[in-house]
Amino acid sequence: MSASEALGAPSAAGLGEPLLRVEDLRVQFATDDGIVHAVDGITYQVHRGRTLGIVGESGSGKTVASLTTLGLTRQQGAHISGRILFEGRDLVGLPDEQLRAIRGNEIAMVFQDPLSSLHPLFRVGAQLIEAVLAHRSVSRAQARERAIELLGLVGIPDPAGRVDNYPHEFSGGMRQRAMIAMALANEPKLLIADEPTTALDVTVQAQILALIERLQRELNMAIVIITHDLGVVAEMADDIAVMYAGRIVETAPGSVMFAGPEHPYTWGLLKSIPMLSGPRAQSLVPIPGTPPSLIRRPSGCHFHPRCPYAQPDHARIDPALEPVPGKDDHHVACLLDAADRKRLWAELQAGRMPDQALAATGLGGARP
Ligand SMILES: Nc1ncnc2c1ncn2[C@@H]1O[C@H](COP(=O)(O)OP(=O)(O)OP(=O)(O)O)[C@@H](O)[C@H]1O
Ligand code: SF4
Ligand SMILES: [Mg+2]
Repeated sequence: MSASEALGAPSAAGLGEPLLRVEDLRVQFATDDGIVHAVDGITYQVHRGRTLGIVGESGSGKTVASLTTLGLTRQQGAHISGRILFEGRDLVGLPDEQLRAIRGNEIAMVFQDPLSSLHPLFRVGAQLIEAVLAHRSVSRAQARERAIELLGLVGIPDPAGRVDNYPHEFSGGMRQRAMIAMALANEPKLLIADEPTTALDVTVQAQILALIERLQRELNMAIVIITHDLGVVAEMADDIAVMYAGRIVETAPGSVMFAGPEHPYTWGLLKSIPMLSGPRAQSLVPIPGTPPSLIRRPSGCHFHPRCPYAQPDHARIDPALEPVPGKDDHHVACLLDAADRKRLWAELQAGRMPDQALAATGLGGARP
């Protein structure tokens, strides 16, 4: 099986052709300090009506991968290779003009940075009207009607009155909703939502996620949701891809991943984040260290300097993303053997700290 065949699998059986299929995507930036390997050979796919959650710490390449899908890293001088197949058409080599026709129309993005989609000096409604007019041949009056309808759709009270507000007259949650309205203006087939709720309080966050899910059902949209928050992906995603240092290190259907995560970094994320659905009494264990530089990445397994279970040769050998034995919808990039990983995770689940888990499995004391 080729790497790309292997990686496309999660929950895909019986779903037909994916709407989006990203194959071995690499994105590099040349800087004065050296080459930034922002995205380093990732493969994933998403089907109509389904949600892929991409999780990982800051700087793991989540946003760059998504901006690249929309062609938005081109003007930043990115070197891009691989394929981004949208309805079978490769977007990587597509001329800018054709990409513009797709962007904001068939593929829309809720940006991580609100300022990149709402201009502070223009009324919210005027911006929505422009988004509609960019891709639809309707009159300005019809576009205004659509703008009001969209604001209502995303739960803005009194949309006809609010349509002429400036962004600063909206609360944070309303601005977030307006950004979603903007992204949905043309009923996209694919919505990429980059940290759509990070800055919001828990109640508004839950409302916005519920709204995205409702609109997904109504429009049969495919969604790629990017977040630091495993709680959000647990809630939203059919499939999950965990990114570390520009790579996908583990991918599986959500239910499979939460039932038996395989990668030490995923364990670290799960043990370091309070989850509403998790046991309350369990103490949180932060992942030691900080994410690596993507210019000078660690040798071997890029996670080895932070990994409590690293063995001496893990600083030398770079693990490939491979199927977990017996599970063709679950892939992991880790050099430990599957039986050891299972025992370690069982120990962690029993409440042991990483060093205790290591000792209990007899692997301990061998860090590079
Ligand atoms: N235009 C650019 N030029 C050089 N380096 C860049 C550029 N854009 C992004 N990078 C680098 O690429 C890496 C990945 O960035 P990216 O924004 O994708 O991370 P992220 O996973 O979205 O992080 P966060 O969770 O903080 O949003 C970072 O090291 C970042 O500094
Ligand atoms: S390969 Fe080694 S260092 Fe990398 S995640 Fe697995 S155990 Fe940790
Ligand atoms: Mg980001």
